Amino acid sequence: MPAISSSAPGKIILFGEHAVVYHRPAIAVPVHHLQTKVYLTANPTAPSGQVKIHAPDIGLNATLAELPDQHPFSLLFKLIRQHFRITRIPAVHIKIKSDIPIASGLGSGTAVSVALIRGIAQFLAAEINDQDVSDIAYEVEKIYHGTPSGIDNTVISYEQPVYYVKGEKPVLVAVPRVMQFAIGISGVRSKTSKAVAQVRDFREREEEFVESLFDEIGEISFKARKVLEEGSLQELGSLMNSNHLLLERLGVSNKVLNTLVNAACASGALGAKLSGAGLGGNVIALVTQSTAAPVQQALLEAGAVFVYLTKLHAAC
Ligand code: PMV
Repeated sequence: MPAISSSAPGKIILFGEHAVVYHRPAIAVPVHHLQTKVYLTANPTAPSGQVKIHAPDIGLNATLAELPDQHPFSLLFKLIRQHFRITRIPAVHIKIKSDIPIASGLGSGTAVSVALIRGIAQFLAAEINDQDVSDIAYEVEKIYHGTPSGIDNTVISYEQPVYYVKGEKPVLVAVPRVMQFAIGISGVRSKTSKAVAQVRDFREREEEFVESLFDEIGEISFKARKVLEEGSLQELGSLMNSNHLLLERLGVSNKVLNTLVNAACASGALGAKLSGAGLGGNVIALVTQSTAAPVQQALLEAGAVFVYLTKLHAAC
């Protein structure tokens, strides 16, 4: 039987990270040219239910039964079996390959979950809708940090720009023109759980101040949705700059990220900010055809270990 394959994109958060955990709106977009791919091949000679997973990027080569119950894959397959109301999956060999860098705020873990859910659905010749994919991936996100907002699993499952408020139905945002971003990878791996815990502690100490930052960030996301729909690049860039300053005041930026953001702006980006949990990970800069190369160069000179240039395509 030929291998079945499925995939899921990376993502960047354009506006509203952290505040989104506290029910303020945020906006995220998929990064289509970074993909996680899974390949599934039936293994009729193996005992039924045996799921063998080979993920060289994370050094994993094991059967599901060999993994501890707390492993994200153990939970993921349990939820998949529950969703499709089956007790076991026919024996299968799964290979996972990803070009999304790990722990860089680009949704690598979530993309693996989403690609696997879709791949297993195909393998079982079953249908699954985007929201169900997203709901399963969300449960797995909780292993990584206890209180995820749900924005990562939503944007990666829908594969479209989303305006997201925790607990509400996501709104898909139609962007009227191509937008280009430079994504600078800081090389500092950051744990989302650590940044989220730091913000939680800050809020416990200074509730009024932190809530006012969340309000301001929420306002920016609210305005940005309209600006995105209108396609005004100048305004979008200036909202990104304002969002970055607020994230800095929230304590999730650092010298490395600020240096990258400043370098992007000084070399012609229309705006730049950290994206994702912060304390490391990545920065994003809004660029044009003519500023993409100089901004990419400036980010590299300022210490980025890698810079991706990516396009957000216009809605048809
Ligand atoms: O590090 P990332 O890209 O997974 O970003 C997390 C975004 C936060 O708002 C910090 C957390 C969340 O659950 O939304």
